[in-house]
Amino acid sequence: MASFNLGNRMKLNFIDLKRQYLQYKSEIDREISEVLDTTQFIMGSKVAELERMLADYAGVHYGIGVSSGTDALLLALMAYEVKPGDEILCPPFTFVATAEVVSLLGARPVFVDIDEKMYNINPSLMEDKITRRTKGIIPVSLYGQVADMDQIRGVAQKHDLFVIEDGCQSFGATYKGKRSCGLPDVGTTSFFPSKPLGCYGDGGMVFTDDEVIAKRIQSLRNHGQERRYQHKYIGINGRLDTIQAAVLIAKFRHLEEEIKLRENKGAYYTEGLKDMVVTPYIEGHNTSVYAQYSIRTDRRDDLSDYLNSKGVPTAIHYPVPLHLQEAFDYLGCKEGDFPISEKVSKEIVSLPMSPFITQDEQDYVIEMVRGFLKGTKGNG
Ligand SMILES: Cc1ncc(COP(=O)(O)O)c(C=O)c1O
Repeated sequence: MASFNLGNRMKLNFIDLKRQYLQYKSEIDREISEVLDTTQFIMGSKVAELERMLADYAGVHYGIGVSSGTDALLLALMAYEVKPGDEILCPPFTFVATAEVVSLLGARPVFVDIDEKMYNINPSLMEDKITRRTKGIIPVSLYGQVADMDQIRGVAQKHDLFVIEDGCQSFGATYKGKRSCGLPDVGTTSFFPSKPLGCYGDGGMVFTDDEVIAKRIQSLRNHGQERRYQHKYIGINGRLDTIQAAVLIAKFRHLEEEIKLRENKGAYYTEGLKDMVVTPYIEGHNTSVYAQYSIRTDRRDDLSDYLNSKGVPTAIHYPVPLHLQEAFDYLGCKEGDFPISEKVSKEIVSLPMSPFITQDEQDYVIEMVRGFLKGTKGNG
């Protein structure tokens, strides 16, 4: 690790979108101005161009550009005709959207606890939760690493359930050599600005090889239209803006090199911190895109306060698991129901991470974390 003078103070960004924009400015500006020239703001040709590029990258036939990662999940569930009374398995330790869309359709999210190493849904706990009302499973590829998809698929096939990968944090990651979002049956991702592939507003995409599901989603995202003003389904306005597609086309050209940088930065943090805190565990058959670099310590809150006071912003993904959120009170869950999710939510904290964070900045973060934890009691 390069030495760093602790006397210096730094002020870091949690995710540095400005540095990224400045690096690709001419390409991004050119792509945007092409849209402005054509004035094809809704479903312009760049949407289809992006869909083709990203579907190829994910290794599937269909990519359907949509208005957000949340709508990608919603539309996928709508395409499977999920309805009131249906049950969908998902982890409680995730961003709210994963379960929110299930509830929006009147179906019931049935939570399954996570495993303590990867923080993803624990497939060995799933079968106990399956009833005759269970229709599907939404595993989340949290922090940029795919869940144990083969085991999840095995359970799904046995019980005739669909699998929708919530890949909102993992676009570009691989599982046994295959890309996240290109795994069965459907993958969804988010282009929220801070995601590994982010746009300059909201956006998302659904990926699948299933022609029937793909055609339904293409229609559902556009008010259920098959042809103009001919509505086959009750749908939504869930289209991806052409300007966002243009930004993504420019940024996608750099995704692979950014992923390598993310991996290197992740490994660098791990090397500097692994004897002090619980660092991310990446399965041998996985690669992570480190949408977040999250560590665990039983002194999380004090560590966060300290880092913030030293100019190091932190974030907690996520402080309250979904089964303890007021919005899900109606499910009747209580504290203690999902002990691993509860434990991790008390200990987890994310450090500044982006492909553009410098070694000096990482050294500063590492020194601050180490300095704080050395000076206090606890077990990392
Ligand atoms: C795991 C997960 N699911 C769903 C979403 C929702 O994506 P969006 O913010 O694009 O609606 C996000 C991102 O915020 C996420 O991290």
